[in-house]
Amino acid sequence: MINFKLIIGEKIANTINEDINEIASYIEVPPNKEMGDYAFPCFKLAKTLKKAPPMIAEELKNKIEIDENIEKIEIAGGYLNFYINKLKLSEETLKEFELKQERYGSSAYGDGKNVIVEFSSPNIAKPFHIGHLRTTVIGSALYNVYKFLGYNTTAINHLGDYGTQFGKLIEGYKRWGNEYNIDENPIDELMKIYVRINELCKEDESVLEACRENFRLLEENDEYCKNLWEKFRDVSLKEFQRIYDLLGVHFDSLKGEAFYTDKMDEVENILEKAGVITESQGSKIVDLEDKGLGVCIIRKSNGSSIYATRDLAAIRYRAKEYDFDKCLYVVAYEQALHFRQIFEVAKHLDIPEKCQKGLEHVQYGMTRLTTGKMSTREGNVIKVEDLLKESIERVEHIIEEKNPEMENKKAEAKKIGIGAVIFNNLCTTLIKDQVFDWNAVLNFNGETGPYIQYVYVRTKSVLEKAGYLPSFEEVDVKLLQDKESLNIISNLYEFENVLKSVVDKNETSFLTRYLIELGQSYSNFYNENKIICEDNKKLQDARVYLSVAVGTVLKTGAKLLGIEMPNKM
Ligand code: ARG
Repeated sequence: MINFKLIIGEKIANTINEDINEIASYIEVPPNKEMGDYAFPCFKLAKTLKKAPPMIAEELKNKIEIDENIEKIEIAGGYLNFYINKLKLSEETLKEFELKQERYGSSAYGDGKNVIVEFSSPNIAKPFHIGHLRTTVIGSALYNVYKFLGYNTTAINHLGDYGTQFGKLIEGYKRWGNEYNIDENPIDELMKIYVRINELCKEDESVLEACRENFRLLEENDEYCKNLWEKFRDVSLKEFQRIYDLLGVHFDSLKGEAFYTDKMDEVENILEKAGVITESQGSKIVDLEDKGLGVCIIRKSNGSSIYATRDLAAIRYRAKEYDFDKCLYVVAYEQALHFRQIFEVAKHLDIPEKCQKGLEHVQYGMTRLTTGKMSTREGNVIKVEDLLKESIERVEHIIEEKNPEMENKKAEAKKIGIGAVIFNNLCTTLIKDQVFDWNAVLNFNGETGPYIQYVYVRTKSVLEKAGYLPSFEEVDVKLLQDKESLNIISNLYEFENVLKSVVDKNETSFLTRYLIELGQSYSNFYNENKIICEDNKKLQDARVYLSVAVGTVLKTGAKLLGIEMPNKM
């Protein structure tokens, strides 16, 4: 695809003998179109050229020639504003779309680099809560975008399948297992056992002792304990899988914490050898006080390993197995300190520097629920599966009211209901806390998933009304130079850049925002222009073609977020 930023960068760089890429990287997009499509801040050159910015602007303007790409150049203070040729922009953009269709926006940006996206990572035998929903949805979207941009991407679910609580669960199951229907309703039932055994532990020290013993046996691969642990893991995973299926989420690896149990001694040895381990009250720690990061415990005084050690073992394993350039951890911001600690300690591991540098915690904020029966009292966990089902039901209700004759109501309601929840989880800047409010999530006219789907369906019905797909050769781009059409075209042109910024910043809200803007541009276009014009076939061809392009890009973008498009709405 034509790159106007680079073209302008080249023009400037050539006049003053500077590096094109560096110059291009300074180029900004002005806050509004009246000020041009791109602006070059001349003060960036003030030092090297030893001149005042307005003077630099004047000189550059005189030297740079207007050509088929640039329509005009204007000076505004220390800025040089560039207006690109809209016809050229339109031609190039639609040509690229015609060529790539559903793959429009994809590129070789990732250049085959290896990226791991670790996300979801729920804890076995514990509820899959609303925080896990958010990491699942964000992680999956990032994974999709990285793949689309040519990265060699791996999705890992780092299951919380290890820890002392399994000693307790085994003890509870031993005592009362047959009273609970674990296969039917694993997580609820295992939670009940867990609560009950905890009560008993409080009353009876010997029971607690038995739990500890179970965990020790589990660590030693004892048949009975291992089998039970496997059973708990399997039934929990089955329940999680139902949620993953609803969300359309996929993993390449399910290696959880337990996988690393036999890989932790090595971590400890390496850190010992590196001389960074010290003893503190019987525990082995890495002291990070000088970095303001407290201490990272590697082994507790009773000899057991901890969460952090397993994470360090996982970093080593992943570096060897995947030779990663980036390893992203999509985990709530509450764990920020944990990740800063292990990334710091990882500097002492025997892994390539590129892996050390590639570790990144992608943080996200909490979700609060407000309205309806899903609102939570303290300690009352919302089941994500129920939330997803409620969303589908609410949409079914809306359809029943608005469009009872609709075909495939159930299937479409599922796409809309799930899509709404997914979009809502991705559209606030990730680090911010968010409020989950059904009225906002399901507002068909708001900045929501259903809105994007609605605009998409509109483009489909335009095509249906036309009754044919205009061929690209028939499209006269000159007929798409009105304000509304041009707005759409410059949105389309930006798609590739938006996707790049999603992976550069690991921020999905850039893409949700983009899709909303494209949707709004199309709505304006739709309201201002007659698309089906029987008396002007040329005009109709151009407008229908543009509608198809918008529909395709909306669909591609939604799919990257994990959202399916309905056929009707
Ligand atoms: N299982 C943890 C939890 O539910 C999240 C794991 C995050 N990933 C990691 N590598 N530590 O809180």
